[in-house]
Amino acid sequence: MMIYPIVMYGDAVLRKRATDLEKGSDLTQLVADMYETMYEANGIGLAAPQIGKSIRLFIVDGTTLDDEPTLKDFKKVFVNPQVVDEYGEEWAFEEGCLSIPNIREEVWRKETVRIKYFDEKWNAFEEEFDGMKARIIQHEYDHIEGKLFTDYLSPLKKRMLKGKLTNISKGDVDTEYRIAAPLKK
Ligand code: NI
Repeated sequence: MMIYPIVMYGDAVLRKRATDLEKGSDLTQLVADMYETMYEANGIGLAAPQIGKSIRLFIVDGTTLDDEPTLKDFKKVFVNPQVVDEYGEEWAFEEGCLSIPNIREEVWRKETVRIKYFDEKWNAFEEEFDGMKARIIQHEYDHIEGKLFTDYLSPLKKRMLKGKLTNISKGDVDTEYRIAAPLKK
């Protein structure tokens, strides 16, 4: 078992469009390690770029959130996912990210997402998710597209956060989990 340090804002790996995994490859160890890493950091979602791997893989587990009963069976692995459609009314929610510690900001996203993906055993799915499930998937999917939730903020908000984001890139941030900061001296 391996717990990876979480890659911080500012690292180029978070800005790359990740590449598909080779179909049929054994993901058992990697997926187990990603779950360990995510639980250690108290996250509900983790994408491979956040552990420095530019591959199209993310995991979610919302089953531990007592105040979100809709997520009680929401533990899944998404391999080579492809968003097919997003629709419905946009709604706002304060998002956070393990790669951007101690910052939460309101992000607007569409209600429903339709996504094709494989699980870690290479079973194929095409499913629709809405509400908080969609929200978590959209956030994690953004990671493998090289996007971060801060990209959605207004220019003013971005300016206001600039100092904090720079500090995060330098590793100058309080976390209870191990981090890998690109500008750490
Ligand atoms: Ni994130």
